Amino acid sequence: MQIDPHALSAQESYQLMTACVLPRPIGWTSTLSVDGAANLAPFSYFGGVSSSPMTVMLSVGRRRGEPKDTAANLLATREAVIHIPHRPLAEAMVATAAEADAQVDEFDLAGLTKAASVKVAPPRVQEAAIAMEAVLSEHLEVGRGPVDLFLLEIVHLHLDEAYLLDGRPDPAKLQAVGRLGGTFYCDTAMPFSVQRPG
Ligand SMILES: Cc1cc2nc3c(=O)[nH]c(=O)nc-3n(C[C@H](O)[C@H](O)[C@H](O)COP(=O)(O)O)c2cc1C
Repeated sequence: MQIDPHALSAQESYQLMTACVLPRPIGWTSTLSVDGAANLAPFSYFGGVSSSPMTVMLSVGRRRGEPKDTAANLLATREAVIHIPHRPLAEAMVATAAEADAQVDEFDLAGLTKAASVKVAPPRVQEAAIAMEAVLSEHLEVGRGPVDLFLLEIVHLHLDEAYLLDGRPDPAKLQAVGRLGGTFYCDTAMPFSVQRPG
């Protein structure tokens, strides 16, 4: 089957893109509004960009032409905590995607505990095995949406020792959640190893 992406509607493009680019890691992102209201939402247009300094990207679509709360908060306060959800938190993570009013606290909505961060103001999810405190380094508007693309530098990491092997998160223990198309997800419970040549 051959597809010209230019012949697709915005909805068809979204469905095909999210069915082809997979599995996608999820940046479960905590931010604060200028008024101090806590916000938590998942984003799977998310990924690693650079290791030195540790930098990730987060792409936030517009909602009815306006920046989502996460994007508005990042533009105003420039700080976030990005969590990598693991299997026991998958349902809570999806619950925080609810289109809630900016004043609604998604931590409470999903029954999650707030813990203080070390170097940034937004709280972190205490139950998360990986929490990365981050500061905004660049913002770009990309595409026809447009989407708000953020580059964020990691300035502090919290790693739950129960999921570590030799000081780093072990994928099989962690069961990190990836997003597929639609309502489907996968996890890293069964990794396999391939040796590189030479
Ligand atoms: C697993 C998952 C991944 C998501 N990924 C994205 C994404 O990459 N970009 C986006 O704009 N919305 C994404 N969403 C939808 C947002 O989480 C949703 O619009 C949320 O309400 C945004 O919250 P906010 O307005 O508090 O920022 C995703 C939802 C789920 C459940």
